[in-house]
Amino acid sequence: MNPPEFDTLLSALAAIYSREDREAAARTANALLTTAAPAPFNVQQPCALDGLMRDLLSTSPLPAAQAILGAQHLLPWGTNPVADRMSQSAAAICAVTTLMGPDGPIPASDLRLGLFYQRPNSYYALHNHDADETYVILAGAAFWTAGEDRRIRLPGDMIHHPSLMPHAFRTGEEGVLALWRWSGDVNTHSYAFLDDPEALIA
Ligand SMILES: [Fe+2]
Repeated sequence: MNPPEFDTLLSALAAIYSREDREAAARTANALLTTAAPAPFNVQQPCALDGLMRDLLSTSPLPAAQAILGAQHLLPWGTNPVADRMSQSAAAICAVTTLMGPDGPIPASDLRLGLFYQRPNSYYALHNHDADETYVILAGAAFWTAGEDRRIRLPGDMIHHPSLMPHAFRTGEEGVLALWRWSGDVNTHSYAFLDDPEALIA
């Protein structure tokens, strides 16, 4: 049985996927609601970015953001499935927690899902991967590049990256916290940073 604040979070995340008209969205919601995760997570110490994340989450009216705040002490930040594909400088600007995937904690063979936080005034350079991806902004804002679509994204916005679409995120004064989900071919070896002139001015 999960702690109640963790179940509240899973329900809030599942509710988000009722807005997404993709087969993987319905499966994700179902997995969030029906699969017991091992609990409580063995979180040894708060993430180094915990204070920044809490400050940002407290600014968001979205139920999922408030549910993250309630469950923050249970979340295994520092479980980025592509950590070994990232440079030190890229890893330093963000934090990732994985809640679902082939390696758990909620098991799924062809889905990965988690939360992503990026520091204020930072640039996560252009990258891509085989997996189809959907992000949902939960708190803060970022100037988002999704292929040719480049614009500010705000809480509640849902952004879809088809397989191999290049994407990049630039934060301002707030930073950003988002929900992410991979589906389809969720291998991590295809994750790659791309040539990106904007990385030079990050
Ligand atoms: Fe991605």
